[in-house]
Amino acid sequence: MPSALPTAIAPNGYPQRNHTKALREDTLGYIEHIAGQGDFLKIPFPLVPTYFVNHPDLIQEVMVKQSRSFHKPFGIKYTANQFFGDNLFTSDGELWKTLRSTLQPGFSVPRLQSYAQTVIGYTQKIMDRWQPGETVEITDAMMEVTLRSTTQCFFGLDLYSSQSGENLLRFIELFFKRISSFPVPAWIPIPSNREIKKLLKDRNDFFLPLIQERRISGEDKGDILSMLVKGQTADTTGLITDMQVCNEVSNLFAAGYEVTAYSLAFTLYLLDQYPKVEARLRHEIDRVLGTRTITVEDLEKMPYLEQVLQESMRLLPVIAVVGRQAIEPITIQGHPLPKNSSIIVSPWTLHRRADIYPEPLTFKPDRFADHNISKSAYIPFSGGPRACIGQGFAMMQMRINLAMILQRYRLSLPSDYVFKPIFNFNTRPKNGLPMILQTA
Ligand code: HEM
Repeated sequence: MPSALPTAIAPNGYPQRNHTKALREDTLGYIEHIAGQGDFLKIPFPLVPTYFVNHPDLIQEVMVKQSRSFHKPFGIKYTANQFFGDNLFTSDGELWKTLRSTLQPGFSVPRLQSYAQTVIGYTQKIMDRWQPGETVEITDAMMEVTLRSTTQCFFGLDLYSSQSGENLLRFIELFFKRISSFPVPAWIPIPSNREIKKLLKDRNDFFLPLIQERRISGEDKGDILSMLVKGQTADTTGLITDMQVCNEVSNLFAAGYEVTAYSLAFTLYLLDQYPKVEARLRHEIDRVLGTRTITVEDLEKMPYLEQVLQESMRLLPVIAVVGRQAIEPITIQGHPLPKNSSIIVSPWTLHRRADIYPEPLTFKPDRFADHNISKSAYIPFSGGPRACIGQGFAMMQMRINLAMILQRYRLSLPSDYVFKPIFNFNTRPKNGLPMILQTA
């Protein structure tokens, strides 16, 4: 029998009983603080027994070997369900299996390749507006690229600057606000609940007729929505209703566009900080593309481009914390944990382990050159059966965006800029990311 698990000590200035406050006030600081205390700890949160795991073997136990014993945390499920009903992100069991297998073909390699042209088109469009010498808020610019590409690839419409797009973005903004706070029941008559109810109706009014139209026409428009409607027609479980399809497309969009935009923005920030890495990447892009337009076939010829993105998501993973909740009593490395135990896994701290990543705070894309980092030691897209379904799409999109931007521009930060990542469900730069454009 192993000795009892150590209990995490709160950061300086916080009473030991108030870990929740420390976590809420500075999530990244708190998580780094407890990662310094051990690989497997009990966290004295009130109500729910909570554990922190920060070693690849432990992560393998939770995400892969014993994944059936875990669900997404109850609080996240509760809030996400208010916005998206049961959906791929939060559902479990039969519904999750049916949804995952219905959606998977939409992310197959040939299908992903067919989305590339859309991504290329929007990247071009946005850069055509840029002027050398101008300062661009790069998080907003990347958000525009991913918003337009994603809405086009997912439901065949560019929702940028449209009322439906604005409504959907506001809906997602309220979702992120709610999910990073305590769950609030939908029946409480407060202004934000009224607004969510209205936005939910707007969303349904927008998507449901679109879904019905697709089903009646039977046409495959080459997007994710067509794939879902096709899956719905073939479904024999009765689980894929029109409302389920509506929940799914909006949830996929919410899950994907912002996190991809921040990952890209962080990469541009890191390239500015590491001029040698940037020069080597430019050299690769120049050798493969010169001044011609990128094609999806070019991506395989640019391995360093992929390594740069992998290393960026190691050092600054936008999803810095992932949670799980045990649906039955479990044992991890000989430690019995009760039913309902909550487990915190942090890509942020795992990716900063010096024993796996020497000089962990240095941006070194070469770490990924020989592919010998274990799957459980690198989890920007999580792992096991619940790994991100959109990772192929996101990597394809980011490689195209980054290669095209560097082909035309050199981006640098103002000299007085201070970089501070903060956690608000997604990790984002507290002071934005204003970058000065120059011709490459
Ligand atoms: C750089 C971009 C992205 C990152 C870093 C990322 C990261 C993640 C992570 C860490 C998870 C697991 C969360 C958990 O276990 O609780 C996840 C799940 C998920 N992601 Fe992504 N994601 C990205 C892009 C996308 C895109 C573009 C889409 C849309 C197609 C997407 C859709 C999803 C969905 C639906 C899930 C839930 C999968 C399931 O539970 O079966 N993500 N993502």
